[in-house]
Amino acid sequence: MIALGCDHGGFELKQEIIKHLESRGIPYEDFGTYDNASTDYPVYARKVAAAVVDGKCEKGILVCGTGIGISIAANKVKGIRCALCTDCFMAEATRLHNDANVLALGGRVVGVGLALKIVDTFLDTPFSNDERHIRRIKGIED
Ligand code: RB5
Repeated sequence: MIALGCDHGGFELKQEIIKHLESRGIPYEDFGTYDNASTDYPVYARKVAAAVVDGKCEKGILVCGTGIGISIAANKVKGIRCALCTDCFMAEATRLHNDANVLALGGRVVGVGLALKIVDTFLDTPFSNDERHIRRIKGIED
């Protein structure tokens, strides 16, 4: 189960991500926002982060205008490793090295085609399980 959230700046891209997940048969829960009305990204960052930390969802995807505010907010939640990615290299590396559990995207930064490739890379790349990366991730939490 993938937790989805966005503000108004990420609403259109989140809707494209929903269509994409449906086409791949990947289950998701949409925590809003549900329209283009101006709203505050920390609300949705917290909802998605809570769903991931509680184990209700295995990963999350957050979208705001830049991806910056919503990723900063998500990373305030203990246990969340939210990675703002603008290309597939970053998405692959953050899964392999950081075991990122939330992806952040900027709806005003990346086009839909690239964003969906980033989503696929993020969802399809396993954590490396390398000892050095496990040690560094533990260092984040401590
Ligand atoms: C909203 O205008 C915008 O500030 C927000 O979507 C995001 O880009 C914040 O980091």
